[in-house]
Amino acid sequence: MKNIAVIGVGYVGLVTGTCFADLGNRVTCVDVNEERIANLKQGILPIYEPGLEEVVRRNLAAGRLSFTTSYAEALNCPEAPAELVFIAVNTPTGVDGEAELRYVRAAAEMIAQTMDHPLIIVNKSTVPVGTGDWVADIVRNKQPKPIPFSVVSNPEFLREGSALSDFMNPDRIVLGSLDEEAAQKVAQLYLPLRGPIMITDPRTAEMIKYASNAFLATKISFINEIANICEALGADVKEVAAGMGYDKRIGRAFLDAGLGYGGSCFPKDVKALAHMANVQGKHPQLLEAVMQINADARRSIVAKVRALVGNNSTHLNRLEGKTIGVLGLAFKANTDDIRESQPIDIIRMIQADGGTVKAYDPVAMPNAAKVLHNVKLCADAYEVAEGSDALILATEWNEFKNLDLARIKRIMKQPVIVDGRNLYDPPAMRELGFIYRGVGRGY
Ligand code: NAD
Ligand code: UGA
Repeated sequence: MKNIAVIGVGYVGLVTGTCFADLGNRVTCVDVNEERIANLKQGILPIYEPGLEEVVRRNLAAGRLSFTTSYAEALNCPEAPAELVFIAVNTPTGVDGEAELRYVRAAAEMIAQTMDHPLIIVNKSTVPVGTGDWVADIVRNKQPKPIPFSVVSNPEFLREGSALSDFMNPDRIVLGSLDEEAAQKVAQLYLPLRGPIMITDPRTAEMIKYASNAFLATKISFINEIANICEALGADVKEVAAGMGYDKRIGRAFLDAGLGYGGSCFPKDVKALAHMANVQGKHPQLLEAVMQINADARRSIVAKVRALVGNNSTHLNRLEGKTIGVLGLAFKANTDDIRESQPIDIIRMIQADGGTVKAYDPVAMPNAAKVLHNVKLCADAYEVAEGSDALILATEWNEFKNLDLARIKRIMKQPVIVDGRNLYDPPAMRELGFIYRGVGRGY
């Protein structure tokens, strides 16, 4: 049992703190967002993450998990002073594509000014290579009096939507530190998870995180490029991916063609890695292509809608007078996260083209409502379909997998479906009388 502090109660911090508490540690999570903390004290979560609420409530009740806005309470509690503090704050994209470190800086400064005993500072946020040294400098410079500390890089690999099981069943745990003893203390926390633990230097650990995300993003852009070629040549990308995936060297994972990657991670991290390379005078050509193909994947969905239901008159915008229904607003299923959401980008493109949009998402509508304008948010998929000229399947929620498609066809103005997730079977859709386009499905 260790005493742990976690800074930031977003997707990563809340899952990390909750899981460490569930493993028997005493965890105090601190955040600058007072509303989030007040709600969490009552077991109300700021995010939608399947299964998380129950584990938070169980550990709150057991007294192993607590929430505060006070760094002093999190770090220096007299009965249980923290031995380790995890930084899990956001690192959004800055103006030039770099990872913005202002929140990490604020957290490091607060740790330095608050700590009253030796600490291991563990960086879980995704941060540019070299940030470990930078955090150590900040802490050293901001401490009112010198107190020993170590910095360990410990990038996180969980996915939203399956965060709990990803955290509890890691493919690997990466620890980067020049202080072997500190790295071993962090490693002990993870021993119950039985995942392989790799200890390396901090810069290598930081790079493993970027390289992993960039590789997965590259797989997605690769299959989207193949999908594009499949469309021209009459092959089916779903079967191509299945056929490729049997090869153990390739693997089937992350070969789903569609509307490209979204979310708070891949877009930001590929950009940040390219930025790091450019600053060093390198030319990250592959990363640039990955980003361009990804942007095209969203445009190509709108192009299909235009081609199927758009106006041909030069007096009208292509989608003027057309109602387009969008099923799904989150960047993938099982999350309420709409950061860098492809469906929201697509909606804006449709609106820019004169189209009217109706949309529905099982959990992301409250978040989407804050950023969308003039979109009718509906109660379900059928209300979206009613009177629509075309339907875009944008997020692969389970509830869209078994829709009453005959009913959908009856209530739509035109039976046109653009399936951005390749959820449906093209021959079956044609059989039902739809004009159907998937992504790379050989037509
Ligand atoms: P998030 O935006 O969901 O949460 C960040 C939290 O940090 C917020 O609650 C915010 O109020 C809080 N915060 C900001 N500054 C603070 C400060 N100075 N002190 C205390 N709290 C502060 O972010 P996230 O999605 O959890 O991502 C966190 C980091 O983890 C990022 O670097 C991200 O790239 C990385 N990451 C995210 C995921 C993911 O699936 N979301 C997975 C792996 C890694
Ligand atoms: C991703 C990584 O998978 C995590 O390992 C990593 O920890 C996290 O980023 C991060 O660094 O923050 P996440 O963004 O939650 O996790 O979601 P993914 O499941 O990776 O999906 C990312 C995007 O790619 C989604 O928009 C998804 O729809 C898309 N995707 C995924 C595809 O288009 N095709 C695929 O085959 C797989």
